[in-house]
Amino acid sequence: MLKLNFKDFYELETDNYKDEVLAIHDNVEKLKNTKEQYLGWIDYTKDHSKEIDKAIQLGLELQKFETLVVVGIGGSFLGAKSFYEIFKDRIDDKKTELIFLGNNISSHYIKTVLKKLETKNFAVNIISKSGGTLEPAIAFRLIKELLISKYGTEAKERIIVTTDPKNGNLRKLALDEGYRTLEIPANIGGRYSIFTAVGFLPLSAAGIDTNEMLKGVAKAKQEFDARQLDNLAYLYAIARRKASEIGKKIEIFTAYDPSFSYYLEWLKQLYGESEGKEGKGIYPMSVINTRDLHSLGQFIQEGTQEHFETIIWAEEKNQLVFDRLVVDYDKFNDLAGIEIDIINKKAMEGTRIAHSNGNIKNILMEIEELTPFSLAYLSYFFMKACSMTCYLLKVDPFNQPGVEEYKKEIKILLDELK
Ligand code: PA5
Repeated sequence: MLKLNFKDFYELETDNYKDEVLAIHDNVEKLKNTKEQYLGWIDYTKDHSKEIDKAIQLGLELQKFETLVVVGIGGSFLGAKSFYEIFKDRIDDKKTELIFLGNNISSHYIKTVLKKLETKNFAVNIISKSGGTLEPAIAFRLIKELLISKYGTEAKERIIVTTDPKNGNLRKLALDEGYRTLEIPANIGGRYSIFTAVGFLPLSAAGIDTNEMLKGVAKAKQEFDARQLDNLAYLYAIARRKASEIGKKIEIFTAYDPSFSYYLEWLKQLYGESEGKEGKGIYPMSVINTRDLHSLGQFIQEGTQEHFETIIWAEEKNQLVFDRLVVDYDKFNDLAGIEIDIINKKAMEGTRIAHSNGNIKNILMEIEELTPFSLAYLSYFFMKACSMTCYLLKVDPFNQPGVEEYKKEIKILLDELK
């Protein structure tokens, strides 16, 4: 299912980390079901099938609408967006179109989306755990206005609120106005919430196979919850730790298909917000190749050497080929009849060799077949590895004190506008 190649990290010296990793594993297992810890995501798919089923069923019901507007930011946005971008043009039976709003404060962006919605038959899923985040709050006000002007009293039926089960302004609003609600459990933080209603409602509406996603998580749990040092999630955490120790402070998440852009954004948020604190952490960045080989390729090969690469390779079987030309003007006739996917893979392998030769370390992650099952499996792997990385670094994987800092400063400036 998932193959991890640590070729460049061959001296992982896992034994040096054995006691620490296993002690962390035991501690997580002990604490994972306590209310105070944000570890609820580990067993959520196993223990909360009713809530998940409710989200999936509601998503199926929303398929009657042409469009679902998903209003949210950060962890309340990137998981669903990343799966949607990867699968929306890969599934045969497309259902509701997803449009994402509330992930910035650009008036141009918001106006453009609202304009587009004037002619669409749409519903809204507002997702905010705290219920008090600026970007989705602004967008929700505006879209609610549009809903009411288009659908009058029926507007209320078209709003689904996904938020904390008890607390926050959004929960209160939903109760006061009678909107249907779904919950983001109190002990699951935004960036670990993809396998809750946050991801399942919109993805089910879009026609993505959420049952396959659940099976993928179940399979991943068998492997990545194992108390073993050869657990791949733990090996990846050790490799990142090792990278950091040898001065590699930047991780470049690399994919070879543009539909992965948002998946890499999800990864950047997961690792960046979880790990980057107390002056510690590996800075996550991303490239989409071969596009970025023609922009950042030079720097990655020969620039400052603070980075390593994590390449995600997903097998494609599109059987797309081109024909020989009578006049071989670009001299590529020899490649005629060879699948484009094979050419793409050779580009990945060649680049990997060049980077290795240039002392740019890399980890290759290969998934055999790209499906909702395998992507869910990979995503659980990344979440499990991320929490282990943070514990090894002795930082809290689930808080974001720096985020609170800029929010405070923005609030001071906004208060001056009152
Ligand atoms: O991972 C996190 O906790 C954050 O990125 C949040 O998801 C993000 O700030 C949005 O918060 P909320 O869902 O409360 O609107």
